[in-house]
Parts: sequence; C-alpha cells; structure tokens
Amino acid sequence: MSTDTETEYVAALTALHRGLDRKGPGDSDFSRNILSHLSTLPIKPRIADLGCGSGSSALLLAQHYQSTVMAVDSSSVFIGELRARAKQLGLEHLIIPIQGDMAKLDWSVGSVDLLWSEGAAYKLGFEQALKIWRPLLANSGIAVISEMSWFTDNAPEPVIAYWQNAYPMMDTEAENIARANKSDFSVLSIHRLPSQAWWVNYYEPLRQRMQQIEITPSTQSVIRETEEEMRLFEKFSDSYGYTFYVLQAD
Ligand SMILES: C[S@@+](CC[C@H](N)C(=O)[O-])C[C@H]1O[C@@H](n2cnc3c(N)ncnc32)[C@H](O)[C@@H]1O
Repeated sequence: MSTDTETEYVAALTALHRGLDRKGPGDSDFSRNILSHLSTLPIKPRIADLGCGSGSSALLLAQHYQSTVMAVDSSSVFIGELRARAKQLGLEHLIIPIQGDMAKLDWSVGSVDLLWSEGAAYKLGFEQALKIWRPLLANSGIAVISEMSWFTDNAPEPVIAYWQNAYPMMDTEAENIARANKSDFSVLSIHRLPSQAWWVNYYEPLRQRMQQIEITPSTQSVIRETEEEMRLFEKFSDSYGYTFYVLQAD
C-alpha cells in the first residue's frame, strides 16, 4: 500500500469507528474474569493500555485497580474520545492519554506492571509486539494481549484465503504460545473471546454505524471489506477468533 492509500484507508477506518465504544471485538465481563485471576500484581499496578482506541480497556482497568493507566493510541480522534469518556466517568485523574506510536515508546525498562493490549498487536505482528513490549515490563509483570488466532490446523479454504490476504501473520494458538515462550514470557493462561461478544459488542454497533456514515470511495471499500469479514465470521467462527494470551515476564 502506498503512503497516500494507507492514509486514506486509516481515515476511512477511523470514520467508520468514530463514536463506537469498541474499535475491535471485546467484552468487559470477559476482561474482568481475566483480571480476577491475576494474583501477583501490586495493589496499585503501573498499567499501560497499548492501541487503546477510545479506551474501553483503559477505563475498565482504571476502575478495577483505582490506579493510573497510560493509554496509547496513534489516532488523535480516538484519544479525544477517550478523554471525553474518562471525564464523563470521573476517571480523568487516573487516565493518561498519549497520542503516539506503541512501537516507539521511550519508557524506562521495567516501568509497567500490567500491560494490556486488545485487538492492536496485529499492527506490529504478535512476535514483534512481544519483542518490543517485553523490556517495558517489571520483573514478573503481566501482559494480557489479544491476537487473532487459528483454533484449528484445518480451517476451511475461503477463510484461509481471506485472512492470508488481510493478516498473513495470523497463526495458531500453539505457535503463538511458542513465540511467547521464546520471547521470555511464561504463558499463564489463554482465553478465547466468545463469538457472541464479537456480535453484541462490536459487529452490531458497527453495522448500525455503516448506515450513518458518509459514503465515499474509501469508506465504501472499508464497508465492503468489513461486511465480507462479518459474513465469514458468521460461518466460520469455530475456526478462528481472538485469543487473549495472559503472559508473565520471566
Ligand atoms: C482494533 S483497534 C482496538 C482498539 C481498542 N483496544 C479496543 O479494543 O477498542 C486497534 C487500535 O490500534 C491503534 N493503532 C494502530 N497502530 C498503532 C500504533 N502503531 N501505535 C498506537 N496505536 C495504534 C488504532 O488507532 C486502533 O485504535
């Protein structure tokens, strides 16, 4: 993709997701359940949410721990939405919104106790994200990272073809676990996001939004692509989805 095409594509994607609470599939109860099993963190952990969008996870984490969250996203629009939501919830004293590149953080080594990243590691590739983020974690710090993963070695052909084009680096859970181990993490647990959470919290609001936005050639193309993604998920969600990897820095 040329830089201009990439800029146009990101602008169309941003227009489509503007105003939505979630910019990717996720679920608050599912996240809280993961948090309820993290027993080794300090009472007030130093938290980062990388690729935070408009902050569904950052706000949940701030509320859960009553601790400060550094919330990073490259989109000024989404960071603006996060600021507004934090204010509305009376959480602005706990949220530090940072518009920036999650691959180029100049934070001190070992400065994060809990690193959370939902639906964003694919932008760097899972392996690269692990490599770049590992030094940020304190001794025995925890990373919770969601990554699109194959649930089977034998996914049906149409879905393989789609994802080979959309995200060629997508791999099986076993491969991702091996990558985490190779990157100086222990894998504490993995959790598959239920398909219902995709529909209720993400695809259905997104479908409504599609009816509202101004149609331009680039929004039209992002809408078509998203509709195709939904059609495939409807048929083949047994074969792939978001897996949350709960990792501890060795
Ligand atoms: C699928 S969305 C998920 C957002 C949020 N975590 C959620 O679940 O609602 C991916 C996010 O990553 C952000 N992003 C993409 N590349 C980035 C980068 N290099 N640095 C920071 N954020 C980035 C996008 O702007 C977008 O908000």
